[in-house]
Amino acid sequence: MAHLLKGRSVVITGGFGILGRALAVYLLEQGARVAALDLSAVPVDIQASEDFLPLGGVDLTDPVSAGDAMAQVSSAFGQIDSLVNVAGGFAWEPFETGALETWDRMYQMNVRTTVTATHAALPHLLTSADGRVVSISAVAAGKAGLGVSAYAAAKAGVSRFTESLAEELKARSVTVNAVMPSIIDTPANRADMPDEDFSSWVAPSSLAAVIGFLLSDQAAVITGACLPVTGKV
Ligand SMILES: NC(=O)c1ccc[n+]([C@@H]2O[C@H](COP(=O)([O-])OP(=O)(O)OC[C@H]3O[C@@H](n4cnc5c(N)ncnc54)[C@H](OP(=O)(O)O)[C@@H]3O)[C@@H](O)[C@H]2O)c1
Repeated sequence: MAHLLKGRSVVITGGFGILGRALAVYLLEQGARVAALDLSAVPVDIQASEDFLPLGGVDLTDPVSAGDAMAQVSSAFGQIDSLVNVAGGFAWEPFETGALETWDRMYQMNVRTTVTATHAALPHLLTSADGRVVSISAVAAGKAGLGVSAYAAAKAGVSRFTESLAEELKARSVTVNAVMPSIIDTPANRADMPDEDFSSWVAPSSLAAVIGFLLSDQAAVITGACLPVTGKV
């Protein structure tokens, strides 16, 4: 489908990571203007253009940093229609031998970034005729396996936040949804699980297309959904 998102202004958090990059490519192909926010400096292989604004050094656990970034995007594009909360992180460790600090870190990386970015973007999203929030939870938010208690609890926080904010905004112009991937086909996952069948995982470009649908006009009637995107896992 050509130009599914023509004229839409979309903010991607964690925009320099694996999924963030694939999502930016897909959304630009679909006619959106895209701002990619990330904690690290803008990598040398990422170039700004008329429709693409990369902003590095944005700590999305910090409301001032998040607010400044949203103001810059709004000033550059004139509006913010959509926010995709991609920033996040993973930890695997058994609870018995793991660190309590991991629970704080997973909360900061997954819940705090999502909540802070959404809070900063919301005044802008509410001025859009078709506002969208899509956050990246994980299938582990529904049922956790071995070693992922802190991660799964944090992603469950992202899913519950999604459902509650969707209810809060139901009568207004902003929908709020999440996707729950199983394993994304990333270089890090390939290195960690070299004997797995990579074709059973979710390609970043496939997940980008699902997110693009949730941002589109066709998904205006979906809110409060936490959609499993599990490939063949
Ligand atoms: N990979 C998987 O199999 C999988 C499965 C289910 C769900 N997910 C979720 O999908 C999302 C994307 O995964 P990915 O594999 O693409 O991860 P990734 O490559 O590590 O990208 C995540 C990005 O978020 C950024 N980030 C972290 N903390 C931040 C902060 N405080 N402020 C701003 N940016 C911050 C990171 O920046 P720095 O690198 O500078 O820290 C990184 O660029 C994550 O939410 C992840 O939890 C992934």
